[in-house]
Amino acid sequence: MQIIAMFLASFLCFASLTSAHNSAKVGICYGQLGNNLPKPSKSTQLIKNLKAKRVKLYDTNPEILKALQKTNIQVSIMVPNNLITNISTNQTLSNTWVSTNVVPFYPQTMIRYLLVGNEILSNPPNTTWFNLVPAMRKIKYSLKKFGLKKIKVGTPLAMDCLESSFPPSNGTFRSDVKNTLIKPLLSFLNKTKSFFFIDVYPFFPWSSEPKSIDLNYALMNPTNVTYKDPSTNLTYTNLLDQMLDSVYFAMLKLGYPNTRLFIGETGWPNGCDIDQIGGNIYNAATYNRNLIKKLTTKPPLGTPARPGTILPSFIFALYNENQKAGPGTERHFGLLYPNGTSVYETDFSGKAKESEYKPLPKPTNNEPLKGVKIFCVVAEGANRTELAGALGYACGQGNGTCNAIQPGKKCYKPNSLVWHASYAFSSYWSQLRSTGASCYFNGLATQTTKDPSYGSCKFPSVNF
Ligand SMILES: *[C@@H]1O[C@H](CO)[C@@H](O)[C@H](O)[C@H]1NC(C)=O
Ligand SMILES: *[C@@H]1O[C@H](CO)[C@@H](O)[C@H](O)[C@H]1NC(C)=O
Ligand SMILES: *[C@@H]1O[C@H](CO)[C@@H](O)[C@H](O)[C@H]1NC(C)=O
Ligand SMILES: *[C@@H]1O[C@H](CO)[C@@H](O)[C@H](O)[C@H]1NC(C)=O
Ligand SMILES: *[C@@H]1O[C@H](CO)[C@@H](O)[C@H](O)[C@H]1NC(C)=O
Ligand SMILES: *[C@@H]1O[C@H](CO)[C@@H](O)[C@H](O)[C@H]1NC(C)=O
Ligand SMILES: *[C@@H]1O[C@H](CO)[C@@H](O)[C@H](O)[C@H]1NC(C)=O
Ligand SMILES: *[C@@H]1O[C@H](CO)[C@@H](O)[C@H](O)[C@H]1NC(C)=O
Ligand SMILES: *[C@@H]1O[C@H](CO)[C@@H](O)[C@H](O)[C@H]1NC(C)=O
Ligand SMILES: *[C@@H]1O[C@H](CO)[C@@H](O)[C@H](O)[C@H]1NC(C)=O
Repeated sequence: MQIIAMFLASFLCFASLTSAHNSAKVGICYGQLGNNLPKPSKSTQLIKNLKAKRVKLYDTNPEILKALQKTNIQVSIMVPNNLITNISTNQTLSNTWVSTNVVPFYPQTMIRYLLVGNEILSNPPNTTWFNLVPAMRKIKYSLKKFGLKKIKVGTPLAMDCLESSFPPSNGTFRSDVKNTLIKPLLSFLNKTKSFFFIDVYPFFPWSSEPKSIDLNYALMNPTNVTYKDPSTNLTYTNLLDQMLDSVYFAMLKLGYPNTRLFIGETGWPNGCDIDQIGGNIYNAATYNRNLIKKLTTKPPLGTPARPGTILPSFIFALYNENQKAGPGTERHFGLLYPNGTSVYETDFSGKAKESEYKPLPKPTNNEPLKGVKIFCVVAEGANRTELAGALGYACGQGNGTCNAIQPGKKCYKPNSLVWHASYAFSSYWSQLRSTGASCYFNGLATQTTKDPSYGSCKFPSVNF
């Protein structure tokens, strides 16, 4: 009886938190790593068209902050990683940063979140890590000094801040940062009533283990596949909830069960390289539409460990960004093409009827490849000057990568920059792919299944 009374009390408490005023808002990440993206004023209009209620910037671009003035869009801005260390020991610098990058735009631009750094624990260990929380304190102090108390200070971390996330109840922060960094961070977030910002992508665990994780479970489609956590008996119906709860259990273990989660980034790629799977328009549209439906449901669904809680969020990203390094998926997270047209339809308000959406192209790359050879060659239109640099780089990596294109060797002829660079890219990639090398070279390279081998010159390939 007592238990029931407690349950009711907490239910009522959640209910009061979920008034219209507090309803979930889905935002968009406005990344700018493209050389072909629309101007801030056009971008602001496109964000409005999506009905996004929030936008996350990875900097404090003044032109963008101005374009967002007098809109109803809440804005999140960011202190760059390379300023963390200096700010952590210098209150004057922190004050100057806030007075330059925040004060002139507030309140006309609805700045609500100030993120210090971006996924810094995903970088190689360095002293910046341990300067993070001191820098956040300095920034918070500066905001208070300028009367900007509405702005929450946080820092987005990736799922690699956990050393275990399965089962969700086993969620544990990494031992190299648990006590020295995460604990002070949680204490700061608690004192300032801020959020733990987590970047969470079910796409990554699924694509690395597509045989053991059901695709529909990762896409949040209705499916019979469920997972029951043996320690808690909580039942999961999708991978996102499972990942979010692993963060919750990790926070619980450090004594902060009430810290609110904010999805700093989530999404699904609408395209990918030949050697990757699952990046396509069908999956991306399905994931993001299911996500919006889940997040905008009233009353809020929360997660199995914290039912009924609001999950504020940012979807990654506004545009496909052609200058993002790494595998092809990285350049295909956009809801929009750089020319502003939709890759697929979405409605961030959650009100659109799915039956009104145009039919989506059927996916063809949801299964791992078998028996296919992939080559890495020079992309169309590659800049000659940059290509010469990339050739030099590729030949300097690995072991004997460019032996075959030396004078007199089998692949020397035709003696052209494009031919030699294509050979070098394929050789580099096939030798070093297992250690994380990609077929990208800043956009100069592309994957192909067409074998460029000619005469006695055999191109190295990646084989599936
Ligand atoms: C330390 O990491 C930060 C980002 O987390 C980076 O900006 C900085 O260059 C790194 N410093 C060194 C010395 O590698
Ligand atoms: C940090 O401070 C040092 C010493 O004042 C300065 O040399 C350096 O340029 C500063 N770093 C940045 C990123 O502003
Ligand atoms: C602190 O930052 C201010 C403003 O950028 C700068 O003038 C000052 O030299 C810095 N102090 C130290 C000790 O680096
Ligand atoms: C829980 O996490 C630990 C590492 O923190 C790992 O060794 C262990 O296998 C995990 N338990 C299960 C049941 O997966
Ligand atoms: C769930 O299982 C039932 C019975 O096996 C089957 O009829 C139904 O189609 C399944 N639903 C999904 C979404 O897989
Ligand atoms: C989970 O369910 C099993 C079987 O019903 C039960 O024995 C166990 O006590 C439950 N565990 C928890 C944490 O509720
Ligand atoms: C802060 O921590 C205290 C003590 O654990 C807890 O009662 C409170 O709910 C927490 N507040 C927030 C906003 O997390
Ligand atoms: C916009 O770009 C996409 C992808 O490149 C293309 O398919 C589409 O036709 C373009 N739309 C317009 C209006 O230019
Ligand atoms: C090629 O790249 C170089 C170095 O980045 C640059 O200076 C040059 O303008 C580029 N050429 C063309 C035609 O884009
Ligand atoms: C490079 O290749 C040669 C010949 O196959 C081999 O003897 C040598 O050990 C290799 N070196 C490294 C660093 O792998």
